[in-house]
Amino acid sequence: MLDFLGDLRRTHMCGGLRLSDAGKKVVLMGWVNRRRDLGQIIFVDLRDRTGVTQVVFNNELNAAVHQKAETLRNEFVIAAIGTVKRRDADTINPNIPTGEVELVVEELRLLNVSKPLPFLPSDTVLANEEMRLKYRYIDLRRDAMQFNIELRHKVALAIRENLAAQGFFEIETPFMTRSTPEGARDYLVPSRVSPGSFYALPQSPQLFKQILMISGFDKYFQIVRCFRDEDLRADRQPEFTQIDLEMSYPQPERVWEVVEGFLAAAFKAAGHEIKTPFLRMDFDDAIRQYGIDKPDLRVPAFTDVSDCFAASDLESLAINKDLPVIAIRIPHVGELSRKERDDVKPLFVSKGGARVFEDFKRIENKFPEAGTKVRERAGAAADDLLVLVVGSAQSGSSGDAHPASRRKVTPAEMAIYASAGLLRVALAQKYSDRHKLFQKGDYRFLWVTNFPMFEWDEGDKRWNAAHHPFTSPNDEDMDKLESDPAMVRALAYDVVLNGTELGSGSIRIHRQDVQSRIFHALGMTEEEARSRFGFFLEALEYGTPPHGGIALGLDRIVMILAGADSLREVIPFPKTAAAKDLMMEAPTPVAEGQLRELGIGVVKKI
Ligand code: AMO
Repeated sequence: MLDFLGDLRRTHMCGGLRLSDAGKKVVLMGWVNRRRDLGQIIFVDLRDRTGVTQVVFNNELNAAVHQKAETLRNEFVIAAIGTVKRRDADTINPNIPTGEVELVVEELRLLNVSKPLPFLPSDTVLANEEMRLKYRYIDLRRDAMQFNIELRHKVALAIRENLAAQGFFEIETPFMTRSTPEGARDYLVPSRVSPGSFYALPQSPQLFKQILMISGFDKYFQIVRCFRDEDLRADRQPEFTQIDLEMSYPQPERVWEVVEGFLAAAFKAAGHEIKTPFLRMDFDDAIRQYGIDKPDLRVPAFTDVSDCFAASDLESLAINKDLPVIAIRIPHVGELSRKERDDVKPLFVSKGGARVFEDFKRIENKFPEAGTKVRERAGAAADDLLVLVVGSAQSGSSGDAHPASRRKVTPAEMAIYASAGLLRVALAQKYSDRHKLFQKGDYRFLWVTNFPMFEWDEGDKRWNAAHHPFTSPNDEDMDKLESDPAMVRALAYDVVLNGTELGSGSIRIHRQDVQSRIFHALGMTEEEARSRFGFFLEALEYGTPPHGGIALGLDRIVMILAGADSLREVIPFPKTAAAKDLMMEAPTPVAEGQLRELGIGVVKKI
């Protein structure tokens, strides 16, 4: 028989009682986390969001309540009314904040029962991911998830407060909108009243925030859901939350200041002091030192050691002497065993013409002079792991015809750097227990700047916007837009933390003539540009102030702060890698009638 809550109010939370509460009459409510039946005495760990309190049902003191407590099972919901008592010295639990007290129950109300559960919030071994997502409400009761969701709340709140204090207005923008060009596929929403027409869910509020600058709002922000139909990974969800902002008249540095301000506030809310301003690095330098535009600064940069070898050494090893020879150094990993060297091979992904020498010892034995130079140049101690990534002798020259071959880092070099960059990260992750460079709370922020404006699309044989087509070229490169697109730098920047891209932004184009030139450089005809973004091009013509901004992934920030390795750990109701909600079982087919009303016919994919 269940009891009613009636007018009973809880007086304390389960994690809140302390020794100073001893003697007080209190009312706790929560779930039965664990029940231990010792015959005359039953102990229940009563749990709510804030923690657990041991509640005691003593047959000698109150037989009726004790008898009722015998029916309690895991995750039953109860109200326990009683008196807080100091625990005997030998029963104090130093591991929990309420461990010095217990609640001696005088009245028990059974508010609800629970079926036997597929897994328990108190289980020490995690259920598999599918079960966790199907029964998300149970999974969310776990301490770790409660912690992460609370952390998310605190971080979002700190950011909101900080941005408001910096003079930003939070302004909402529509979800039922037109496609924005962030490069992923859109989620579409059919219109009933305009059959055959669709809204697109926003991949970001990019155009709206720029329009808000044209509208005079000067400093805008929004903690906003975005939707992208793209291949999912641990750090990508189809719906995710951006901290999106835009401001009028900024230089990039002004945007960075704003971001550093709210990130410092967010990390402080999570208990960490971070140093500002963040380091800054050119895109080209990031590529040449780390092979990636989101370097993890906790692991040493790699080194170009090409000139440590004689040309004949390189030839005999079938190494391309015109391409960089990269030494990756991971400290304190030591010499790899033969078996470990075999494990390195699958970690290596060649981005075109790159090879790996995972056995540096062998090279050192064969070419001792070069070996010594490499060690010196790379700053390698005797117990550091050295792995070389090189261009194979056959590769390289074909890159010369590439439209981007005049860049400081040519496409052929890029392939070597990128292969080395991926391997560096993979090795650092694999041997993290040996080098111990990944310490909790070690946050290395970085601004990466001076990105190229365009990326060459080999499939379509044309230039794409590296960030998005509203990004302003660097003033100095404006004259190269038509003549030498490969060399145009963008006023774009990324904020990176420990190898994760947290956010991306740019100074925007505020002049209609420049915007037209960019569309042209991207191979878009005037008509195409007008049909996709006509409203926006028109808006640019009505007194648009210079403006710029950025968007950061809130989920990614919280993931890093929580020490989690997937966004699913910090999003209450996430989707699987196949973009499914296993709890609601979405997406689903819909009724024929609903489709008819929308004027939609479904074509079965073969
Ligand atoms: P961008 O597309 O780089 O820029 O996105 C900005 C940041 O949003 C986060 N993010 C994601 N997080 C989780 N899952 C995803 N699928 C996902 N996609 C992106 C990342 C990323 O750095 N409108 C521009 C910003 C601007 O120019 O102001 C934009 O959306 O943390």
